[in-house]
Amino acid sequence: MVSIATVRENNSAITGLYGSGLVAVFVGGTSGIGESTARAFIRSTQASRAYLIGRDQARAHQIIGELQQLNPDAQITFIRSDVSLLREVDEACRAIQQQEDKVNILFLSPGVGTMNGRDEIAAAFPHGIQGKNIIVTGVSPNSLGLATADAFASQSPANLILTGRSSEKVEASITSLRSKYPNIQYHALIMDLASQSSVRAAAAKLNQDDSIPTIDILVNNAGVMAIQALTLSEDGIETTFATNHLGHFLFTNLILAKIIKAARTSSTPTRIINVSSFGHQFSPVRFSDINFSKRPADLPADERPDFEKTEFFTGSSHSEDTYYGFFSYAQSKTANILFSIALNQRLWAKYGIASFAVHPGAVGTNINRHATPAEIEQAVKRVAELGLDASSKTPEQGANSSVLAAVDPGLSPVDDEVKGVYIADCRVDDANVAGFAKNRHVAEKLWALSEGLVQQKFEI
Ligand SMILES: NC(=O)c1ccc[n+]([C@@H]2O[C@H](COP(=O)([O-])OP(=O)(O)OC[C@H]3O[C@@H](n4cnc5c(N)ncnc54)[C@H](OP(=O)(O)O)[C@@H]3O)[C@@H](O)[C@H]2O)c1
Repeated sequence: MVSIATVRENNSAITGLYGSGLVAVFVGGTSGIGESTARAFIRSTQASRAYLIGRDQARAHQIIGELQQLNPDAQITFIRSDVSLLREVDEACRAIQQQEDKVNILFLSPGVGTMNGRDEIAAAFPHGIQGKNIIVTGVSPNSLGLATADAFASQSPANLILTGRSSEKVEASITSLRSKYPNIQYHALIMDLASQSSVRAAAAKLNQDDSIPTIDILVNNAGVMAIQALTLSEDGIETTFATNHLGHFLFTNLILAKIIKAARTSSTPTRIINVSSFGHQFSPVRFSDINFSKRPADLPADERPDFEKTEFFTGSSHSEDTYYGFFSYAQSKTANILFSIALNQRLWAKYGIASFAVHPGAVGTNINRHATPAEIEQAVKRVAELGLDASSKTPEQGANSSVLAAVDPGLSPVDDEVKGVYIADCRVDDANVAGFAKNRHVAEKLWALSEGLVQQKFEI
């Protein structure tokens, strides 16, 4: 065997490879990186044999036709297999073993994370969705929230509760979903996450609704990024933190009885998903300065932003700025991960409820509305320089990790709760969690701070 490559972000593993008579198996070879790597392999080798494993027969035939024109002496075989089903994996392996006594290259492409089809993950785990009650926060046109709701809607939940601060946007989203999936009960729950009284009113409304006795899946997705100047919520809390973390902290705790009830009666996963971001890496939670009144240099060392990373991605360390919009975003996104850790501490062993924090990738939505084009351009350039995929995902692709985290029964936060919690590109991605975002004591500190800020204790 020449190599076993699990290539997520690029296909450079294959491009320098030349040889003849090689046998390669491309799992996920009919789309995305798997497909482009298979093409590179066929172009670069002679008398090779390639096996494309995937689900889309029509697409496979098209690719094979094109590749055979490119390199007529290549033998390319499509094996239809859904690799989420062990039986089909077994059948695919047997088919290859019957033909080959060696495999030189096994290419495992990223899997469902890069699937284009909005509903593919949801369709892989239909029982976790059918007949369930699901909440997604932050639903508006062209958003991750709507794409996430759409994926759930495709598998017939009983009730889909969609929240947002603008009833117009939530209603427009429901109208578009209803035209495709008419047989679902849709509920618009209007709340401004930056306002504790608004969150409390929405939670009370939901709690009083006996037609929705349980909540199986809660996706805390709403968010705001890179507000240019410091703003405080009506409760006197920095707006990004108030919206992205505190509003979700309060809402989740206020409706928790319905989530626990679901876990007691359901055989499929009961989950709380917090949509975080790779951007959390810029800053820990500033416990001594949630509201950005200090220069970063005056913060305790363990609360200071990562200046080096900030300089690399944004062109300036912002070390002198009392407020910087990406630091407030990063603080809130770190809080999203710590909130999942603290929830697992309380809910996993006792009720089997798991919480995951998700990085959806760089997705073309409305999230950049506050950022300057120059800031975005610089960040994208740097990401590309690192050899990472700087291209934007569609909202449908971006929603995949949230949907997977919500429904895949194979996921569980491991014993110490600080591993297995962060999901990106549809897989656990512990390596990309900053140290300050995976500390259980810090998670508890955040829980206590959050209880203080909402002036309510939540004993679970
Ligand atoms: N897009 C990306 O590249 C990316 C990358 C990493 C992480 N994320 C995360 O993904 C999540 C979804 O973002 P998106 O990309 O879909 O952005 P988006 O299109 O801007 O959607 C954000 C949603 O949150 C809602 N929202 C904002 N402030 C709110 C508030 N105070 N109360 C209630 N709802 C509020 C927005 O409503 P309005 O339209 O009414 O403002 C909108 O529905 C966010 O948590 C974001 O941090 C996104």
